[in-house]
Amino acid sequence: MDYAYNSTVLEARRLLATSLVACGFAVKEEDVKVEPSKTADADLSCTVAFVLSKKADKAPKDIAEQVAKKILDALSANAQKAPYIAKVVAANGYVNFILSDGFFLQAASQAAASNAFGSFSDFSGKTAIVEYSSPNVGKPMHIGHIRSTILGDSVANLLSAAGYNVVRMNYLCEAGAQVAGILLAVDTFGPERLKTEKDVLNYYVEITKKIEEDPEMKAKEQQYVAFMENGEPAIQKNLELIRKLTVAPFEVNYERLGVNFDESVFDSEFVPVGKGLVAEAEAKGLARKDEKGETVGLLEEKSTLPNLIILRSNGTTLYSTRDMGFAEWRWEKYHFDKSVIVTASEQNTHFRQVFKLLELTGREWASRLFHIGFGLVFLEGGVKLSSRKGNVLLLEDVLDDAEELALAQIKDRGYSSEDAKKIAFAVGVGSLKFGILRVSAEKNINFSMQKAVSFEGDTGAYLQYTVVRAKNILRKAGYDATAPAAKAAATVPSATPLSKDERELAKMIAQYPQAVRSAAISMAPHQVCDYALKVAAAFSTFYSSSPVLEAESEEKKQLRLMLVAATVSALENALALLGIVVPVKM
Ligand code: ARG
Repeated sequence: MDYAYNSTVLEARRLLATSLVACGFAVKEEDVKVEPSKTADADLSCTVAFVLSKKADKAPKDIAEQVAKKILDALSANAQKAPYIAKVVAANGYVNFILSDGFFLQAASQAAASNAFGSFSDFSGKTAIVEYSSPNVGKPMHIGHIRSTILGDSVANLLSAAGYNVVRMNYLCEAGAQVAGILLAVDTFGPERLKTEKDVLNYYVEITKKIEEDPEMKAKEQQYVAFMENGEPAIQKNLELIRKLTVAPFEVNYERLGVNFDESVFDSEFVPVGKGLVAEAEAKGLARKDEKGETVGLLEEKSTLPNLIILRSNGTTLYSTRDMGFAEWRWEKYHFDKSVIVTASEQNTHFRQVFKLLELTGREWASRLFHIGFGLVFLEGGVKLSSRKGNVLLLEDVLDDAEELALAQIKDRGYSSEDAKKIAFAVGVGSLKFGILRVSAEKNINFSMQKAVSFEGDTGAYLQYTVVRAKNILRKAGYDATAPAAKAAATVPSATPLSKDERELAKMIAQYPQAVRSAAISMAPHQVCDYALKVAAAFSTFYSSSPVLEAESEEKKQLRLMLVAATVSALENALALLGIVVPVKM
């Protein structure tokens, strides 16, 4: 038996449904909803009596009481049927379940003993593509790309925990006037001064000035846009150089964030496929040239979405054209079950339009396309804007700041400077990630780095610290803190009654699989953050009331050690889903 909430919820639901039927109510099992209780006096709760009340013309209270009694009768007739249920009570129309201590003990020791606790395989054999980060060639990565990188990476982790075979993809955008201008600049000024990404930006600034002053240069720039569109061989060498120079600092960022991609693609690769789709849409009467000569996808006729321009009057492609082509390419290559793109929410409408147009052109896989749009990030005080690189907020500056602040917190703890650096690195990145992930995607973030790296409060640093502290306890008890779990779990007598704080902690841990499942299905890492904070809070309460190494009896000591190990397991797994590494000491 799987001693986690998921299966218990299902068991409780089955019991409820059979009892309801036995009481004469016509219900289907799948219509009975059992959820973790919101009140402290129960563990699971069900509102079915309210749902049935109207039809049955009976008060919810009466239905709940009748059903609770039926379940109790069934259980007392066969106590082995549901050993995990201690009590069933009707309370003001709710049917509440109180689970047994044994259930929580087993759930926690299962957590303690398993390395992959919380992973589930519902989606194994399926493929999900997650596209995130996706910065622009010729420009530095900005804070929006950082949110995309951190969020996308965690979504990919969650889908992977759900069993998906995940392809992590980076879509590097280069098609368009900016890179065309830089290419023109290289041909105009020569490539000699082009050594770093900074030079690329300088070339762009210089050529923009020239283009503004000189109409002939303006015309030339247009020509270069066409060169890029057509994949003109003459520009290829310089394009490679520009790509190389701008992608290098992206790589540095990914390295620092601990993010890896399986595949990186350039948007200009999808010009031909995109154009093909435009032609197809036109042929199918789904797109038409307007009076300005632009080709417009006719969404207004078929949906509530505005029309979408999919080709310029001179026949060159747009962001929309390439996104259509890119989607088609992904489908052809992967036949994905799910394909997710993570960008700023400014692009919400763009993606709804692109997906709709693909659907209208008969791509039935369009229903497998998803877009996660996220809000803005505001960094309050503390972080300086880079003067070296223009007035943009750069990841390296944000992380430098985070590390500096983290270092200040541990400087009196007697670490060697090498250790201190390692800790500050893990805490700096972890805090940034947690600060970004704990806010649900669609919301804006007001971010204070100072607060984010604090060891107290709802921060990533606090969670890392909780794990380190818990591991220290295990170490002091003589367990190898890297593999304490199985040993700790093996020694717990299952009849041990639990105190309130022990029970609360075990209960939080038992909910881990459910938390991961829900977060994965809704692709919402903030749910994992909320969950991890709750575990840490329960641990903190438990730890201040329940001595572990100095426990009143050997039995209690083993039980608490198991709970500590289970906490480590749940928290470390949760943090891993967020892309956060726990330092060895802190
Ligand atoms: N490069 C774009 C930007 O910086 C994001 C690309 C997102 N992905 C996509 N398939 N359009 O806004």
